Amino acid sequence: MRLREALPLVSMLAVVVLVAACATSAPGISADSEVSTPTFYADVVPILQENCQVCHMESGQNLGGMVAPVAFTSYETTKEWAPRIARAVRTGRMPPWHAAREHKGDFSNERVLEDSEIATLLAWARSGTLAGDPADAPPAAEFNMATNGWSIGEPDLIVRLPEPYLVHDTIEDQYIDFEVPITADMLPEDRWVKAVEFRAGSSAVHHVIASPIGGIAPGNAPRVFPDGYGTVLRKGTTVTFSMHYHKTPGEGTAVWDQTSAAIVFYAPGEIIDHVVQSQSLGMFRFEIPANDPNYTFRSEHTFEKDVNILWMLPHMHLRGKAALYEITLPGGEKETLLHVPRYDFNWQHTYILNEPVLAPAGTKIDLTLWWDNSAGNRHNPNPDRAVRWGRPTTDEMGYGFMSYTEVEPRRFVAGEKIPEELFGPTGSQRNPGSPE
Ligand code: HEC
Repeated sequence: MRLREALPLVSMLAVVVLVAACATSAPGISADSEVSTPTFYADVVPILQENCQVCHMESGQNLGGMVAPVAFTSYETTKEWAPRIARAVRTGRMPPWHAAREHKGDFSNERVLEDSEIATLLAWARSGTLAGDPADAPPAAEFNMATNGWSIGEPDLIVRLPEPYLVHDTIEDQYIDFEVPITADMLPEDRWVKAVEFRAGSSAVHHVIASPIGGIAPGNAPRVFPDGYGTVLRKGTTVTFSMHYHKTPGEGTAVWDQTSAAIVFYAPGEIIDHVVQSQSLGMFRFEIPANDPNYTFRSEHTFEKDVNILWMLPHMHLRGKAALYEITLPGGEKETLLHVPRYDFNWQHTYILNEPVLAPAGTKIDLTLWWDNSAGNRHNPNPDRAVRWGRPTTDEMGYGFMSYTEVEPRRFVAGEKIPEELFGPTGSQRNPGSPE
C-alpha cells in the first residue's frame, strides 16, 4: 500500500541529502561557505518564512490560545533568539509537529524541517548570526491573514458568545456551556460549509467544542475543507459553545472572554461532491492505575461502505503519551495510518492525509492509545491517583477522531435545496471535535 511503499523512498532520499551535506561541508570546497557561515537575509529568512513566520509574526496564527511568543521577522529580534531557535529545532520542539518522522510526506499540513534546513539554522546560530545583505532576502512573505484577522478570508457568518463572560480571579478550571441560536437573519437557509475558524476571546480559553460546527484545542489550525468537500450547517441550528477555561488563579487574573467562530460557505453554484463525516473511536471505560507509566487501551471501527479517509485527530489529556492508528484491509493487509510516538496535549494537531486513504467496505481501523500516569510525565498533575474518563484535563479522555467521505461521489450544487436524507443520525451534522 501507499504508506509502506513510500517509506524506503523517503529513507533513500534522506541518505542522499546526508551525503550531499557531507560533501559540501568538506573543508576546502568553496561551496561550503554557504553552509558553514550562512547569513540571515540569504539563508535564514527563507527558512523562517516557510516554516515559522505563520505563527512567529505580529498577530500570527492563533491556534486555540497558543500564540507564539516572538516574531521572527526582523534581524535584531531573530538574532537575539538564535540560541533558543537552535535548541528548539535541534530537539524537534519547533516547528510543532508530532507525527513520527517516517510519515514525512504523508500529511499535507506537516511542519517538518529538512535536515539541511536544521543544519543551516544551527550553523547560523553558531557562526556569529551574520546579517548579510538585505538585498539577498526574498520578498517579505505574505500570509493569508485578512486585515480583520481571519485567515480563512472574509467570513459569511460569525457566531459568538452572546456577551462577554468574566472568568473570575478564583478560577483555575471552569467548564461552562453557552447556547447561541443561529437566527433566520443570520442564516436563512441550509448552507454548505467550506471553512471554520475559531478565535479565542481571551488567554483563558483552553479549548472550545462548539457543536455542531467544530472546535478548537491548543495547536489546532482553522478547518478548511478541500474544494468539493463540505458539511452542512442547517438553518435554525443552535450552536453550543462548551468552553473550557484554564488559567492560574489569583487576584487580578480575571479576564473577559467572548470567543467567536467565523464560517465561510460555498458560494452559490459551487459543487460539493463529498460530504465529510466522522468517527470518534472513543474509549470510555478505561481506568489508568496510579503510577502506571505505560497504560494502553484499544478500540476499533469497521467501515460498512467504501470510504476515503481524510484526516485524523488523536485526543487525550495531560497523561496522553502516544497514539497509533492502524488500518486492516478486507484482505488482511495491515498498515500504519498514523503514529504519534510522543503525544503532547498542548498540540492537538489534525493530521490531514496528502492523498485520501481508500478503505473498502470491511476495512478495520484499530486505535491504540498510551498514557503515562507516572511521576516521570512532567505534565502529570497527580501520579498517585487512578484516572478515568472525565472532562477536566486532570481526568483523561481517549479519542481517535477520523474524518472520511463515501467513495461514491455525490453532486450537490451550493445554493440548491439540500436533501433531508443527508441529515440522518449518522449524517454530516456529527461534530468531528465532539466527544458526544
Ligand atoms: C504552528 C505555530 C508555530 C510554528 C509554525 C512555529 N512555532 Fe515556535 N512557537 C509557537 C508557540 C505557540 C510557542 C510557545 C509555546 C511553546 O513554547 O510551546 C513557540 C515557541 C517557540 C520558541 C521558544 C521556545 C523556547 O522554549 O525557547 C522558539 C525558539 C520557537 N518557537 C522557534 C520556532 C522556529 C525556529 C520555528 C520554525 C522552524 C517555529 N518556532 C515554528 C508556535 C509555532
